[in-house]
Amino acid sequence: MTCLRLKLCASLLLLAACAPMPASHPVSPAVAEWPALRSPTAPDAALERRIAVIVAGMTLEQKIGQMTQPDVRYITPDEVRQYYIGSVLNGGGAWPSMNKHATVADWSALADSFARAALSTDMPTQIPLLWGTDAVHGHNNVAGATIFPHNIGLGAAHDPELIERIGRATAQQVRATGITWAFAPTLAVGQNRRWGRTYESWSSDPALVARYATAMVKGLQGEISGDGDVLATAKHYLGDGGTFNGVDQGENRDTREQLIAQEAAGYYAALDAGVQTVMVSYSSWNDVSTGRDYGKMHGNRELITDVLKNRLGFDGLVVSDWNGIEQVPGCAKDRCAQAVNAGIDIIMVPEDWRAFIANTATDVREGRIAESRIDDAVTRILRVKMRSGLFDHPASASSFTGRAAALDAGALAREAVRKSVVLLKNDNQALPLARGRRILVVGASADSLSNQTGGWSLTWQGTENSNADFATGSTLLGALRQALGEANVTYSADGSGVNVADFDTVVAVLGETPYAEFNGDVRFPTPVQHSTMYPADLAVLRAVSGKGVPVVSVLYSGRPAYANDLINLSDAFVAAFLPGTEGAGLADVLTGGRYDFSGRLSFVWPGSACSTGEAPGDIVQFARGYGLSYAAARPVGQLPLPATPAACEVSAP
Ligand code: GLC
Repeated sequence: MTCLRLKLCASLLLLAACAPMPASHPVSPAVAEWPALRSPTAPDAALERRIAVIVAGMTLEQKIGQMTQPDVRYITPDEVRQYYIGSVLNGGGAWPSMNKHATVADWSALADSFARAALSTDMPTQIPLLWGTDAVHGHNNVAGATIFPHNIGLGAAHDPELIERIGRATAQQVRATGITWAFAPTLAVGQNRRWGRTYESWSSDPALVARYATAMVKGLQGEISGDGDVLATAKHYLGDGGTFNGVDQGENRDTREQLIAQEAAGYYAALDAGVQTVMVSYSSWNDVSTGRDYGKMHGNRELITDVLKNRLGFDGLVVSDWNGIEQVPGCAKDRCAQAVNAGIDIIMVPEDWRAFIANTATDVREGRIAESRIDDAVTRILRVKMRSGLFDHPASASSFTGRAAALDAGALAREAVRKSVVLLKNDNQALPLARGRRILVVGASADSLSNQTGGWSLTWQGTENSNADFATGSTLLGALRQALGEANVTYSADGSGVNVADFDTVVAVLGETPYAEFNGDVRFPTPVQHSTMYPADLAVLRAVSGKGVPVVSVLYSGRPAYANDLINLSDAFVAAFLPGTEGAGLADVLTGGRYDFSGRLSFVWPGSACSTGEAPGDIVQFARGYGLSYAAARPVGQLPLPATPAACEVSAP
């Protein structure tokens, strides 16, 4: 048995020993390979009786309305009332009145109008509404909210206690807007840096993902029904980070053992921490080891119902991804009996929600969906809503509602930035930046909050934003000027118009431009090399390097991208990942003094442009766990420069 499986088994035995017995379900040999776990929440007979009475009093359309989740752009509060809608979401880039600069007052007013509408139906018992939002690195949709480092950087902090504090702060940011459900954390165990969502993964190490899952769920959910608590979402179930060639929404070809020991590691921890919602992955599972192709996760009854709900004891609710049901063969945006029968309880159907309700009612009446499945889904939805306290007090009753100050988590985010950046090289003591010395800053990313924050920032893709749109935070340029004195810091985005010899140190800030989801994929066979994807960064580095002045490079990236050519042109090199709005945290460690580097890679850093994972044959330049500091530096020197082919030859396994 592999070491990983032994460790996993040991921790699962501990989990399994401490929760009430599960209901008995027939267990197939395949399902029996999964650990038998139990919900950490003791059954509440009174609550279950209350739910049963409500469900019994509902019509089929009312039940299906509870299962339907439109986007706020495509439904009005009165339609929520009219169609008995149970939850809404704001997808990335949806704001009240489509105003990017909407205030917390605007957000909480809209949330309250939806909430009141849901309580104004003609049902015998009114059912409160849930609103879900992608608060994946702070409440990132909301102007003025502090945005934390993306998960790839937080993984480098190796600090679960920090993660819990970030979860707590994020929950309070979300409650300030009247919202009570965060579509976070992502529990992907990122395996291939071609994947456009690599930055949403904490690590390629399942054990770190598990530790962080516990921390983030506890941080977000607190006591689940508290004033500053929100529902968390374990996503995307299952195997989103392990698809073939890192294709987003692609095919995961893991064996069942790999799913159990690696992809699911964060879920055991999240379930044990009491996570109340799970979001299904767009990806599919093809168990090539047995020749059985299970297809799209949105139609996978074995993994959603037999494993997650029955074997692992999950008693919360399962939500689909955005129009995810249409990817199931034979399904469409507005109809998918297979997804409902697989065990999905809430269908995220942003626009086509009217047709979905009608079609699903037809599927029930014509026997393609058993009404008992509908009742189970609604029971789970009501269970989560009751546990969250929404039946006892409206979301708007929170002391955080409308409180703009709750959006400010700058000090915590600045600490997170300090801990999440990794010093890969510091030859010739190029760092720290000495005060009073003349600094030349180059690179377009130096003054770009967009490149600093990445995707899922104000907009879905993180694009179409200016620095002014963020209303808070600091670029690295601004932070260095603050730390070292305006007069000591000169900026030239492309390195032109200045004489490098006039300066003591050059800081070159390099970076990816923002992307989210599949837009960030680097499709096989394209090499994954920063300088080929962003040639302007190589040009600016060449313009300042080799002039007898130390060059400190800082790289913003959503993935560990091959960069030996850039590292060789630099005396010092910092992997900053996507640090968020608080550039001051970077300046803190670059200028040294009180703060030293402590970040250590949570993914391997590649040694060639076609090494995109941790498979045999992939060249590793810096191993997981690598990170220098002022206290523990060692020379790196010139790194090998293997030829980068026009196209990579070997696919990842
Ligand atoms: C997106 C993402 C998911 C997100 C959802 C709602 O497509 O896959 O992570 O929570 O839609 O925005």
